[in-house]
Amino acid sequence: MSIPRTEPAPANGKLGVLLPGLGAVSTTFIAGVELARRGLGRPIGSLTQLATIRLGKRSEGRTPKIKDFVPIAGLDDLVFSAWDPIPDDAYASALKAGVLDRHTHLDPIAGFLRSIQPMPAAFDQRYVKRLQGANVIPGRSKREWTEALRGDIRRFKSEHDCDRVVMVWCGSTEVFIKQGAAHQDLGAFEAAIDANDDSIAPSMLYAYAALQEGVPYANGAPNLSVDFPALLQLAQQNGIPIAGKDFKTGQTLMKTIIAPGFKARMLGLDGWFSTNILGNRDGAVLDDPESFRTKEESKLSVLEYILQPDLYPELYKDYYHKVRINYYPPRGDQKEGWDNIDIRGWLDYRMQIKVDFLCRDSILAAPIVLDLALFLDLAGRAGMHGIQEWLSFYLKSPMHAAGIYPEHDLFIQHTKLKNTLRWMMGEEQITHLGVEYYLTPAEVG
Ligand SMILES: NC(=O)c1ccc[n+]([C@@H]2O[C@H](COP(=O)([O-])OP(=O)(O)OC[C@H]3O[C@@H](n4cnc5c(N)ncnc54)[C@H](O)[C@@H]3O)[C@@H](O)[C@H]2O)c1
Repeated sequence: MSIPRTEPAPANGKLGVLLPGLGAVSTTFIAGVELARRGLGRPIGSLTQLATIRLGKRSEGRTPKIKDFVPIAGLDDLVFSAWDPIPDDAYASALKAGVLDRHTHLDPIAGFLRSIQPMPAAFDQRYVKRLQGANVIPGRSKREWTEALRGDIRRFKSEHDCDRVVMVWCGSTEVFIKQGAAHQDLGAFEAAIDANDDSIAPSMLYAYAALQEGVPYANGAPNLSVDFPALLQLAQQNGIPIAGKDFKTGQTLMKTIIAPGFKARMLGLDGWFSTNILGNRDGAVLDDPESFRTKEESKLSVLEYILQPDLYPELYKDYYHKVRINYYPPRGDQKEGWDNIDIRGWLDYRMQIKVDFLCRDSILAAPIVLDLALFLDLAGRAGMHGIQEWLSFYLKSPMHAAGIYPEHDLFIQHTKLKNTLRWMMGEEQITHLGVEYYLTPAEVG
């Protein structure tokens, strides 16, 4: 089947990046882009900035950088703004987050960071129990909040003379909400906004405002936010690309690197115990059981889909999987994630693997924010809309079409991402078949 495609329009003009949440991830992302622009830091971890893409056969030697192959916005064309109930500017917030070194990475760009002041947020403490903040949009009606957010988007776009805008949710993880009647279609969703229905969380209002304003939306947290039929319908209707959920960093990144290896080599799994200690604001929010539940759902589903116990019951039917997150203030953003993995080999002999990842969460998340923003903008210019499953590579709990399972294997996700870029630009897909290299001249004819 040939799928119609549109060559992406050029990335002319400025691209506005709007961030609900101006905490550890957002400030590390914004500061990193500014440091890279000034030649004071390197954007390590970002495919849009560093990765190459092979085109054609291995013998052709065509391997441009992704940024030279697809028309993505340049770092110099990015402008930022954010919302946060905590009134700290990006400099003060980055200092509190404690991710980047003050002398090397914050003070040299202090003026720039101070210029990013958070706009009043659509925030209600009932959805993030461990936070308090006074920088909130006046009024309590969800409709008023939605209109205020839409006004903010328009004002930001015109004040910064942006050609296009994208939004990436970098706000806290909200309490667990199950999809209900209000999420099933757009009419019900809008009626629920008007009725101030509790099942409409603030993150959903940001997503709704973005889609109404023609702004692509990515969700970096495990909240439902944009992942339900009503907003999928709006994204399709308005022709807007969306992606989610939950940035794939730290322990889950490791899981989706290691587990595909076990399955590829047909090694069995008895158990995988994962525990984390972290002491940043995100850790404090996740200390609340209701926010943790949202995160837990996102973290647990990964192994199930990679290992496919229904297809390999003798290897994966009964493995035990546990994930714990413990708030431990002394660590700040420098999380430690331990994994104990019990595996099984030839003749059922048992083995153990221990992973101790001394990780920096926001250092792993910042390049994801950049790539999601640039690739969603690219998708928009290529006329792609609805769920952008090719961006699953960046996400812990990827959104997917109804009736198919999500793809969690990092290597399949990576191939899919690159093949999508090739397809977008009218290049051949790479299948890795490669028999042609071994044909005799007579067989080639
Ligand atoms: N750090 C990572 O590696 C990582 C990985 C995956 C997902 N995430 C998710 O990304 C999000 C951001 O992480 P972080 O480490 O920057 O957390 P953080 O606590 O430092 O920042 C989140 C910010 O969002 C703000 N906020 C909360 N509700 C809001 C609302 N309704 N509107 C606007 N702002 C709001 C908070 O005040 C806070 O400043 C979290 O949901 C986290 O779970 C982070």
